[in-house]
Amino acid sequence: MGRITIAIDGYSSTGKSTVAKQLADYLGYVYVDSGAMYRAVTLYAMQQGIISKAHFDTSKLIASLPEIHLKFYKEPSWNKAHIFLNGKDVEDKIRNLEVSEFVSPVATIHEVRAKLVAQQKQMGLEKGVVMDGRDIGTVVFPKAELKIFMNASAEERAQRRYKELLERGEQIKFSEVLKNIQARDHIDTTRDDSPLVKAADAIDIDNSEMNLEDQFHTVLQLAKDRIAGRV
Ligand code: CDP
Repeated sequence: MGRITIAIDGYSSTGKSTVAKQLADYLGYVYVDSGAMYRAVTLYAMQQGIISKAHFDTSKLIASLPEIHLKFYKEPSWNKAHIFLNGKDVEDKIRNLEVSEFVSPVATIHEVRAKLVAQQKQMGLEKGVVMDGRDIGTVVFPKAELKIFMNASAEERAQRRYKELLERGEQIKFSEVLKNIQARDHIDTTRDDSPLVKAADAIDIDNSEMNLEDQFHTVLQLAKDRIAGRV
């Protein structure tokens, strides 16, 4: 059976990465979390003092891009691949609310996107990949055999993310998480370069009322149909 490319896009905290990972594991495909790459570039900018609440030196970030090396690597005992920034495992560090607050402005920069998109296209050359993000079906893999566009209400998404962050031990308020999700939705959908938009041939899934199992089976069925060439 031929291997296909699966693009999963959608708003923040819609459960894209959960379903993308489940699907990749089931099919024996590679899972790539493109958001982790934007988050790692953001962490680099924070560590270098390029971005803070007070300022954002975009030219310095652009000039530093050749110094930023990103790699995914998975130990057999890990549940998923971790992202490495210049040789350091930063998987854990990139998930906090501080990085979430700076990531969308960083992701508006054309040069950042061009660098990451080139690396993402490279990772998909041999197919057999499930990638999730904002522009996967529109820009990274416009010819993907299966494109999914996920959505859920902002309240529901914020609840899910809030729970996740609490479980990680972060001290945060629900209102901050909701505000961050709404702010990112706004920046991601209105930026000039590759705004978050549903590809014309993507299938919409609203999972506000779906549990993880229903969601997985819905997407798996679509994938099986595409692999078998049925639709
Ligand atoms: O997991 P969550 O939904 O919070 O977001 P993510 O997938 O980790 O992505 C973080 C941010 O990176 C998004 O809000 C976008 O600003 C940016 N991003 C992007 O612009 N393009 C992508 N392909 C993936 C992420």
